[in-house]
Amino acid sequence: MGGVSAGPLQPLERIPRDLVAAADYERAARAHVDDNAWAYLQGGAADELSVHDNAAAFRRLRLLPQPLNAVGHGQTQVELFGETYAHPLVLAPVAYQRLFHAEGELATVQGAGALDAAMTVSTLATTTLEAIAAQARAPLWFQLYWQGSREASLALLRRAEAAGYKVLVLTVDAAVAGVRNREQRADFQLPAGIVPVNVDPAAALLPPGRDVFAGPMAQAPGWDDVAWLVRESRLPVVLKGLLHPLDARRAMDAGVHGIVVSNHGGRTLDTAAAPLEVIAAIRTVVGAGYPLLLDGGIRRGSDVFKAIALGATAVMIGRPYIHALATAGALGVAHLLRLLREELEITMALCGCPSLAEISDAYLLNPPE
Ligand code: FNR
Ligand code: LAC
Repeated sequence: MGGVSAGPLQPLERIPRDLVAAADYERAARAHVDDNAWAYLQGGAADELSVHDNAAAFRRLRLLPQPLNAVGHGQTQVELFGETYAHPLVLAPVAYQRLFHAEGELATVQGAGALDAAMTVSTLATTTLEAIAAQARAPLWFQLYWQGSREASLALLRRAEAAGYKVLVLTVDAAVAGVRNREQRADFQLPAGIVPVNVDPAAALLPPGRDVFAGPMAQAPGWDDVAWLVRESRLPVVLKGLLHPLDARRAMDAGVHGIVVSNHGGRTLDTAAAPLEVIAAIRTVVGAGYPLLLDGGIRRGSDVFKAIALGATAVMIGRPYIHALATAGALGVAHLLRLLREELEITMALCGCPSLAEISDAYLLNPPE
């Protein structure tokens, strides 16, 4: 041990007092993650303009509080796909979590359970989806990457159904991915021992460099496959990665049960619109009541409030909970979720909104048309 050991620090076993926001976890996580994994986690596509814009869209938007509204008995409950959740924070699917913590997805599912948060398990998880389910105390959602054929995709869906997953999330915006990191200019290498254990072992032999995603994602699904999946699935089917209002309409018409409005955290198509910029137009097209989640750039409770004000039903968070996982494992994930939930409650109380249903663009200065 001593001061000479290089490499990332072990996760903390207690939460230091100076970790009080998602940004603190981002800073703290750097010391707990090696350069290769950090480049993968933080990176985005090309010039990372969308990574930047996702967060900037939230910062630009200003709140207009109505502080004398009655907010006694306020609460953050939301209903999604037949389940009631205590708050609208869902963990986004993030691949290869053993890159960031020795227990990977098993630590995440414990942290999520402590705060009653749904966790979306990635197709590229480094733990079997059954082992994650065995530890779950809150509903699990399964994220499907199309496996090249209907048969192979169906096999994963049936496993998720059998293991008790509640929602199927088909990600459609990452047929090709080119995650870069501007500072390090590094291409991600999947280290030995970090294996996407739920997919065909051939897909685990990912080539190094840019084409790391080529295996699982080589063949993209189309609308006919979506309609087929909806027919086959016993779980509600959600499409993740739509930005176009007309696609939202098509999804509804295809019988899809909900949408995650997302640009994949800016990791796939650079300069794709920020989800916050399009959520209002999508809400207009799908009408009230249709489940819309939003992800990309959510870093504080007021961001959750803004997303809901413009039409989201709930949100997903990606990188922030991985920062917390790397810093302090399950405890970190639970603490991060608690911080975001408390920030949302404070924002609601100060704005004068006692429930998510009452959050609207009336609480925003110059909301987009
Ligand atoms: C992702 N994301 C992702 N999405 C998905 O559908 N399947 C996956 O396996 C992954 N893997 C993945 C790995 C890493 C390291 C990151 C950062 C992201 C995208 C993720 O679900 C989500 O859309 C974004 O992370 C949301 O943006 P923020 O919260 O990271 O800004
Ligand atoms: C990513 C892929 C795995 O964003 O979705 O890294």
